[in-house]
Amino acid sequence: MAPDITINNDQFTLYLSEQQIHDRVKELAARLNNDYHGKVPIFIGILNGSFIFFADLIREITVDCEVDFLKLSSYGDAKISSGQVHLLKDLNCQVEGRDIVVVEDVVDSGISIDFMKKLVMKENPASFRVVTLLLKKSVAKVDFPIDYVGFEIPPEFVIGYGLDYAQKVRNLKSIYRLAPQE
Ligand code: IMP
Ligand code: MG
Repeated sequence: MAPDITINNDQFTLYLSEQQIHDRVKELAARLNNDYHGKVPIFIGILNGSFIFFADLIREITVDCEVDFLKLSSYGDAKISSGQVHLLKDLNCQVEGRDIVVVEDVVDSGISIDFMKKLVMKENPASFRVVTLLLKKSVAKVDFPIDYVGFEIPPEFVIGYGLDYAQKVRNLKSIYRLAPQE
């Protein structure tokens, strides 16, 4: 089958369509609206990867809420995590006593979300939950629940809808996966 996209000689095929993503984002938001009814959560997006998911999700949120962003880097330009997380931009909000909902694009090894949780918990939030669009469940090592998951996916490299390949292709509307090698 012909690949849908070729980047740096790597071939990618469509994995999750715009419509599939859109439908799932609405379902996740409906659960969040229900669970945070009467509360004023702070949604914290992890840059850069979550920016498109975050923007779509937040527009489906109907409870009073605040937003903030944190920037982490772990991948550099590679397809495999370096295992090292760097804090590139800290939070600007007061976390103490607040209901925190971290918004991730994908939980892969779990290193980033683990780092993020430790950072937030130091500030004594009232609660801490995670919403991720994608979860590579078979490789993710976390000792706390990932509360809201859009799609559980195999441990494959995916791009688009915020997810990059060497910083590019974040602007693709759908999500693509590396095509199997022939
Ligand atoms: P983790 O620390 O290994 O869980 O990886 C977390 C971060 O790495 C994610 O928030 C993404 O930004 C990036 N990442 C993980 N898997 C992929 C992928 O398949 N494509 C693009 N970026 C990824
Ligand atoms: Mg990310």
